[in-house]
Amino acid sequence: MSTNRQQVVDYFEGTRWDYRHLWRSERAGALHFGFYDQGIRDHVTALRRMTGYLASVARIGPQDRIMDAGCGIGGCAIRIAERFGCRATGVNITPFQVTQAREAARRAGVDDLVEFVEADFTDTGLPDASHTVVWALESVVHVDDKEAFVREAHRVLAPGGRLMIAEYLVREDPAPAPADEEELRTWCEGWAMPGLLTGTEYERLLRKQGFEDVRITDISHHVAPSLKRLGRLVRLLGPTAPAFRRLGVLAPVPAGNLSASAAQIRMFDAGVWRYKVVTARKPGGDTDPTGRTPAPSAS
Ligand SMILES: C[S@@+](CC[C@H](N)C(=O)[O-])C[C@H]1O[C@@H](n2cnc3c(N)ncnc32)[C@H](O)[C@@H]1O
Repeated sequence: MSTNRQQVVDYFEGTRWDYRHLWRSERAGALHFGFYDQGIRDHVTALRRMTGYLASVARIGPQDRIMDAGCGIGGCAIRIAERFGCRATGVNITPFQVTQAREAARRAGVDDLVEFVEADFTDTGLPDASHTVVWALESVVHVDDKEAFVREAHRVLAPGGRLMIAEYLVREDPAPAPADEEELRTWCEGWAMPGLLTGTEYERLLRKQGFEDVRITDISHHVAPSLKRLGRLVRLLGPTAPAFRRLGVLAPVPAGNLSASAAQIRMFDAGVWRYKVVTARKPGGDTDPTGRTPAPSAS
């Protein structure tokens, strides 16, 4: 069980307004970055496209049963169910988001296919081997015990099941300089993230658990326009934040969110982290007809 769950819940409660009004999260049911390709120019389309892109990476089809680990307000699970007609279980520890996700599924008419459970994704209580895909979009980064997540993902996956994690991976060579480590800490603290892993660290955790065919693909260039959008918001709102804090109209969590976002962008521009997709496969079974986890194609 993760020990930092209260910080995570406090962060998402404290930034609810920001996500809703500045990120337009409810339009796409998304608390993640957008994916830009094929002439996509607008933010909400890019948010939705991220789900479509990752669904192709995970080779999702009608027979799949997805566990969306850290499902936010449910947009990915709902869109996947709409598009493929497959079943999905969204798992989330933030209660208001679970309520919102359930309402969104009802509105979308897929509440017979998608269920949302309030649980920790390191200890879901879901049956062994009950899912064919574990999907984690910008969520594992919030848990202190990442090994516990990997163990749980392995347990709930059927043999041959696929794991897909999309998030921020820190550069390994050269390792971040001390000043960069300081910036990374500002970012992580402001976003309720205990720390970032390198690709090698992820790979080691996955192989230790018994996953095979581990692949890591950098999709930063598809995400960069979304980061630029965040950068514009930070430049617009950042200068007013100290005054609003003094007046008591800006709470510590959203203020920390702003400084964290600024640090995140500086560290991206400095090449200290990249946005990557990690895929792996649980041995056995035949849920993937090719017998291998496909490498994400950065189209
Ligand atoms: C940045 S949001 C991403 C949400 C969603 N995957 C999306 O892309 O829209 C991270 C989500 O992970 C959830 N989360 C973080 N730690 C968790 C944990 N240990 N167990 C379950 N959910 C968790 C948070 O509540 C939040 O909904």
